[in-house]
Formats: sequence, C-alpha cells, structure tokens
Amino acid sequence: MRQAHSEELAPLAPPLWRQLQACAGALQMVLEGKNHSHALAAVAPALRPAAQALLFAVLRHWETTQAVRDLLVKRAPSAPVNALLCTGLGLQLLGADAMYPVHTLVSQLVEAAKHHPKTRAQASFINACVRRFLREEKTLMNQALQGLSAQWNFPLWWIKRVQRDYPNDWQSILQASQQAAPLSLRVNRRKIGRDALQQQWAEQGMLADAVGEDGLVLRQAKPVQAIEGFAQGWCSVQDTAAQLAVPLLIKGLQVRHGDRLKVLDACAAPGGKTAHLLEYADAEVWALDIDVQRCERIQENLQRLGLQAKVVCADVADTPTWWTGQLFDAILLDAPCTASGIVRRHPDIPLLRRESDLPALVKQQKRLLDALWPLLAPGGRMVYCTCSVFRDEGQYQIDSFLARNTRAVLRPSPGHLMPSRAANPSGLLDNAVNSFDGFFYAVLEQRNADV
Ligand SMILES: C[S@@+](CC[C@H](N)C(=O)[O-])C[C@H]1O[C@@H](n2cnc3c(N)ncnc32)[C@H](O)[C@@H]1O
Repeated sequence: MRQAHSEELAPLAPPLWRQLQACAGALQMVLEGKNHSHALAAVAPALRPAAQALLFAVLRHWETTQAVRDLLVKRAPSAPVNALLCTGLGLQLLGADAMYPVHTLVSQLVEAAKHHPKTRAQASFINACVRRFLREEKTLMNQALQGLSAQWNFPLWWIKRVQRDYPNDWQSILQASQQAAPLSLRVNRRKIGRDALQQQWAEQGMLADAVGEDGLVLRQAKPVQAIEGFAQGWCSVQDTAAQLAVPLLIKGLQVRHGDRLKVLDACAAPGGKTAHLLEYADAEVWALDIDVQRCERIQENLQRLGLQAKVVCADVADTPTWWTGQLFDAILLDAPCTASGIVRRHPDIPLLRRESDLPALVKQQKRLLDALWPLLAPGGRMVYCTCSVFRDEGQYQIDSFLARNTRAVLRPSPGHLMPSRAANPSGLLDNAVNSFDGFFYAVLEQRNADV
C-alpha cells in the first residue's frame, strides 16, 4: 500500500526558482537555530507547501549534503549562498526520488540565485558547483559517504547513542526516522464514530486505515482544512503512537471520589492529549503548561473540538503556585524531551539538537516526575511518556524512578516504540506501514497505603 505524505506538492505550484528561493530562505533560518515551523511561517503562504516539501527533502539529506558541499567549496560561502547551494545539492541527492528532472533543477537554481540581491553575484559559482556535482557525482559521493554521519544523515553523537541503545536495530530506526510520515488523525468520538467517519470519507474517495482505538491514517494526505469534518471538530491531527497515551492512562481506572475522574495533564500544550482525554473520558481535566503562548494553543484546540479543561500556565513542578491540595486520580506527564522519535515530522531536529541538551532534559524529566508523584491519589495512575527513542529519556529514567520510589509499581507498558518494524515487540500497534513515531510509555500505579 502506498503511503502519501502530508508535505507533497500542491498541483498548481509557483515557478520552481521561487520555490527554491523560499526553501533556501527557510533553510538559512533553520541553520541559524530556528525550528522549521518558525522558518516556514516566514514564507509567503502561496509558496509554503512547496517550500516545506523541498525543505524536508533537503533536511533528510543534510549530513550528506554538507559532506558534498565541503568537497566542492574551498572557502565558506555567505549564509544566503550556502543555503541556496545546499538546497540545490540536497535535492540533487534525491536520485530516483527526484521531484524534478535534474537539469531543470540546476537551471532553476541559477535562476533563483540571479533573482536575489544576496546571491546574484554568486550565481556562476553556484552553477559551477552543481554542474561539477552532476559530472563527478560518483567520485564525490564515494568520498562524501566515507563518514557515518553522511551515510545515515544524523550527527555522529546521535548515531552512536542509537547504536548503543539498540545494537540490533539501530539501522532500521535511523532509516525509518528519515522517511516522510503519513497524515494520522484522531476521531473525536464525542462527535462521530470512527467507522462512520471512515465510511463517509470513503464515499468521497478519501481512503483511510483504522489504527488503534480512535485513529485514521489517510492513504493520500490532504491539507487539514480540506478534510471533511476537521473544521467541525470531528477529528484532529495526532500521530498514532501519541494516541496511546490516553487509553493507557484511563482504561480500567475507577473514580475514587465524586462523580468524575480528576485528571492532570501536566505538560499539556498544544493540547493534543488534553483533547483526547476529554473526548475519551468523563473527567475533570487540569491542563498545565509553562509556556503562555502554547497555553493559548490549548484553548484554541479545545474550542474547535467543543471541549473544556481548566487551563493553567505554570511550572507544574512548582506546586505551591497552582495546586489546590486535592489529589489526582490520573496524571499524564508528557515530558519535554529531545523529540528524537519524531524526526519523520520534524526533520530539522537532528540539525538543531546538541548532545549537551540531553543531560539537561533528563534532569528536568526527573524533577517533574518527583514533583508530580506525590499529587497522585493512592491507587491512582500516572503515565510518563516522551517522544524520544533515547533510553536515557525513557527506560533508564523510569528504572531510576522506580528504584527511588518503592510505592510505585510499573504496570504492563509499551516501553520504547520505534518508527520501524524491527524494534516493536509490544504488538500494541500494527507498524506494518511504519505509520507511527518513536515514543516511550511507562504506566505507573501508586500502591494503596494499606497494601
Ligand atoms: C511534549 S510537549 C507536550 C505535548 C502535549 N502533551 C500534546 O500532546 O499536545 C512538552 C510540553 O511541556 C511543557 N513544559 C516544559 N517544562 C514544563 C514545566 N516545568 N511545567 C509545565 N510545562 C512544561 C512545554 O512548554 C511543552 O509544551
């Protein structure tokens, strides 16, 4: 079955040289440390879908592109020239998957250089580089692919960590992380049944496969605004691995006091899992996040879906500032992490992350776990998750938590889910089409005081 991808080009695209310019502008921003969403927000709306498709393709070949560029260029070019040259080289590397005939690409790249004041003077230099690559591709590629980073398109520290964490599966994990992701949606069961929506879409020729309890994965991606029911809140975009959080937290959980479950979504923005919680269970949900702007996104998302939570902007570990003293039946801790599991949808992550980010994040995850655990009612349940494949942020974090909290019990849990077929022994999701992101889940229960 062919998976179509959300970043595919719109049929009526603007001229290629303008798309290349837009892609290079966004790439330059990513190289300056901005994430891809931020960088693409600066692109004119008409060019954005095409610029995203090109940018993602270039980012997925980033380390090879750099290695080839270093062989072609003696002195570092200016930032705008470098971004345009790397855009051209990155797209040339696509080979059989090329979006455009290679000669069209080369001539349009030169056109793009000539049309911008910051690259105009270097148009012949860019032309010479990409044409030399065309002539000497085999030799240059042989040289460029000597290094592990260029072979796998990840920084060396990242490759070594995945090798160490998964000695048998590291290649398939890295490879799957560089594939485009399908468009996965979660059906809002409060508004419409999953089967009914699947049927309705099928009647309009939009085919989708059911995954998990509430998921539909489109076979042919579309802009969300063009999906029937999206504006009415019948569905939301959410990866199928992320859709496991709420059933793991809520299924089989008993209401202890009052008439509804009292649930804390501890790191909630932009509210994907908050919304799922409210769709799935009759619960009083507290949604906390430290980031004011991202808290606004929670409100917007809930509004579209017709749902309500108590949204609080706070450092969730600083409990005296927000906690009323009432224990929670369930706590979801979707902790900040390296996001090393979601590279399929965020191919800028390997370029933006530094190895030194990891210890700080691990420390922060530990701080959040330790601060929130006492807020759980006896017999209550906590789900700790991260969208990371690194064991330091998953299994090892939970191993050390269990060692220092003897009242915590680990229930049967998915553990590390991988964006590849080889490393998913849990059987929780069918990953035959590599249709989900890398994630970690641990389901923890508080032993009753009288046990
Ligand atoms: C992985 S994202 C959460 C995604 C969200 N659960 C969803 O499904 O849409 C992690 C979030 O943690 C928030 N965060 C980080 N440190 C925090 C803290 N100390 N207190 C509260 N939120 C925090 C970040 O602002 C970010 O929005």
